[in-house]
Amino acid sequence: MHIHLILLLLSFQNHLRVEGSETETQRDALLSFKSQVSDPKNSLSGWTASANSSYCTWFGVSCSRSKGRVESLSLPGLSLFGKLPYQLTHLIFLNSLDLSNNKFEGQVPLHFSLLSCLELINLATNNQFHGFIPLFTNMINLTSLILGNNYLSSTTTLNYQLFDSFRNSTQLKMLMTYSNQMAGQLPISVANISRHLQHFCVADTLLTDSIPQGMRNFRNLESLSLEMNEFTGEMPLEIGDLRQLVQLSIYNNRLSEEIPDMFGNFTQLSFLRMGYNQFPGTIPASIGQCKQLNFLHLGINKLQGETPNENLSLSCRGFLKISYLDIRVATNNFAAENPVAKGGSGNVYKGMWLHPEDEESGSSLTLLERLNIAVDVASAMDYLHHDCDPRLVHCDLKPSKVLSDKTMGAWGFWIEYGLSDKTSTSEDVYSFGILLLEMFTTKMPTDKMFKKGLNLNKFASCMNENNQVLHIANPGLLKDCEYSSEST
Ligand SMILES: *[C@@H]1O[C@H](CO)[C@@H](O)[C@H](O)[C@H]1NC(C)=O
Ligand SMILES: *[C@@H]1O[C@H](CO)[C@@H](O)[C@H](O)[C@H]1NC(C)=O
Ligand SMILES: *[C@@H]1O[C@H](CO)[C@@H](O)[C@H](O)[C@H]1NC(C)=O
Ligand SMILES: *[C@@H]1O[C@H](CO)[C@@H](O)[C@H](O)[C@H]1NC(C)=O
Ligand SMILES: *[C@@H]1O[C@H](CO)[C@@H](O)[C@H](O)[C@H]1NC(C)=O
Ligand SMILES: *[C@@H]1O[C@H](CO)[C@@H](O)[C@H](O)[C@H]1NC(C)=O
Repeated sequence: MHIHLILLLLSFQNHLRVEGSETETQRDALLSFKSQVSDPKNSLSGWTASANSSYCTWFGVSCSRSKGRVESLSLPGLSLFGKLPYQLTHLIFLNSLDLSNNKFEGQVPLHFSLLSCLELINLATNNQFHGFIPLFTNMINLTSLILGNNYLSSTTTLNYQLFDSFRNSTQLKMLMTYSNQMAGQLPISVANISRHLQHFCVADTLLTDSIPQGMRNFRNLESLSLEMNEFTGEMPLEIGDLRQLVQLSIYNNRLSEEIPDMFGNFTQLSFLRMGYNQFPGTIPASIGQCKQLNFLHLGINKLQGETPNENLSLSCRGFLKISYLDIRVATNNFAAENPVAKGGSGNVYKGMWLHPEDEESGSSLTLLERLNIAVDVASAMDYLHHDCDPRLVHCDLKPSKVLSDKTMGAWGFWIEYGLSDKTSTSEDVYSFGILLLEMFTTKMPTDKMFKKGLNLNKFASCMNENNQVLHIANPGLLKDCEYSSEST
């Protein structure tokens, strides 16, 4: 009887000790994180060792209610830099880790898989993560993995291991490894990723060989982004089984077999980009059955014949959207056979805006960049007006169309062009003028100063009549040039 009681007490004590050390381990892990990471904005200043501050109240940290287990670490966009301390892997109860948009560097800890409770991992846009992509073995609750915009590399063998490591992640919905240095083949084990997959993006990496078979398993796939790689061979017919697809993007690869007649089941498809490949033959008529399509680009291939435009619902709206990047290639700013430089012009303007007052991060375009865009848009218009058959006329040339919006991310930007005869080229030229004014005054037509009949156009004309036209440009833009103009 006594012995039982003693044993019970002992085990209770043990239990307490385990709980105590669990808390200490997590606090230590967080403090190691803080001590090893540079924090220019002092975002982690409240993370202090004093015994009375519970780490559960620290900025970016959330805990489970009952046991004070760190379940979420959310520190995006804080300009944190340095290496990711391996002590991070001591936070074994983490189910959400968001370190995106910082400046972390070096390797992602290879023992990442110890964090087996993770559901969301977002390490995107640190640009500096190097080394091999880690494996994510046995994360059974993983739903989103976003590693885009880093320098993580891989080989065919590692790709095989990587996709195999997701075998037990049966809840995976989003897998995004875009804009990294992944190389080699995309292995057939891709087909074993979760049936729940909705978003799969390996765009803008260095993958080669054929697109693997087995993608028909992804019945719930909504977006498939394989663009800007070096895939060869054919477009797998079975992709036509993915009835939920909204976005299919495989442009800028080296696919060289005829496009299969695979579009008949795409009742949701709204975005289709297959340009910059080597597709021969004709455009499958079934594209005409994609009733939701509002962006189609097949250009820069070896296709013959006409787009079955008459049956495309997009033609009802009178729009054929052409990406600006496409036009640049068409106008020989890049040689067509030379794949558009990764991170090239299409990305240069990414996430930047013409109007600094819209900007949170303050990285708006410089005068020179604006000038370059203006010249590019002018050459694109010239090409569309004079060299295209049928002649294309823009319908909606505005800065928002010229620059990517935030959600468009890696697609660069595009301009909408219409086929309508009614729109004349002079309207384009007028819009282009307004675009120039917006770019250099950095004022939107909706600016507070434009009321009682004053608009951007009148404002500029009026300043011009008073010989003040040089003063309409945003002085902030000219600041950068002062030094160089004084010294020349
Ligand atoms: C924590 O304790 C320190 C002294 O040990 C005290 O100065 C501080 O006010 C306490 N903070 C809170 C939040 O209780
Ligand atoms: C996975 O999720 C389930 C349900 O939320 C939970 O009971 C389980 O503990 C989780 N497992 C891991 C390893 O995170
Ligand atoms: C998947 O789970 C099984 C059974 O728990 C385990 O034996 C295997 O190692 C796991 N594989 C991966 C890749 O996570
Ligand atoms: C997919 O998973 C199954 C069952 O786990 C396995 O037998 C098969 O070899 C895997 N296929 C590939 C291509 O990895
Ligand atoms: C549409 O889906 C059905 C059933 O999944 C399939 O048999 C057919 O081949 C698909 N059609 C096309 C054009 O891919
Ligand atoms: C376009 O639709 C018409 C009937 O609406 C049909 O006869 C024709 O075959 C379709 N053309 C293509 C290319 O799908």
